[in-house]
Amino acid sequence: MRIRAVYPGTFDPVTNGHIDLIRRSSALFDHVIIAILRNAEKTPLFSIEERVEMLENAIAKLKNVSVTTFEGLLVDYATKVGASVIVRGIRAVSDYEYELQMALMNRRLSSKVETVFMMPAEAYSYLSSRLVKEISMLGGSIHGLVPRIVERRLKQKQLSHAFSSKAGGHQ
Ligand code: PNS
Repeated sequence: MRIRAVYPGTFDPVTNGHIDLIRRSSALFDHVIIAILRNAEKTPLFSIEERVEMLENAIAKLKNVSVTTFEGLLVDYATKVGASVIVRGIRAVSDYEYELQMALMNRRLSSKVETVFMMPAEAYSYLSSRLVKEISMLGGSIHGLVPRIVERRLKQKQLSHAFSSKAGGHQ
C-alpha cells in the first residue's frame, strides 16, 4: 500500500526544524505533500509565493516531496489529494495540547485521515518561525536555524525594513 502524507502549516518562513521533519517523513511515507495554508486572517511576513519558492528550493533534493497551497478544511484537502496521513511536529509538551485538539477534531471531521506526530531533532526543539523572524528583524544571527535561501530573504526584508524606517524618520 502506498501512503501519501500531507504536512500542513503556515511556514512563514520554513525553518530547519520543518526541514528536519520533512526529511524524516519523506523516509517514512511514499509521498509527502507540504501544504501551505492560504490564510487571509494572518498577516504573514512572506507572501504565499515567496513561501512556496523558499520551500521548493529547500527540499529540491527530496524526490518524493512536493509543495502546494490549500484553503478550507485540511481534512477536505487531504481527501482531495488522496492523503491518508497528516504529519505534525511536536517540539515540546507545550505543543501537545493544541496539536491533540486539532488531531482529534480532524479525526471527528474525517475518520479516514490519521494524524501522525513526529519529533524534530532536539537541536530544533526551541526553534520557531516566530522567533526566527524576531531575531532576524532585530539584527541577530539566524545562521544554522533556517535554510540558506530563507537566511538571505530575511536579510533582504531586514534591510528594506531598516531602509524604510530610516526614510520615514527623515520626513
Ligand atoms: O503551522 P501552523 O500555523 O501551526 O499550521 C496550522 C494549520 C495550517 C495546520 C491549521 O491551521 C489548519 O489545518 N488549518 C486549516 C483549517 C482547518 O482545517 N481547521 C480545522 C482544524 S481542526
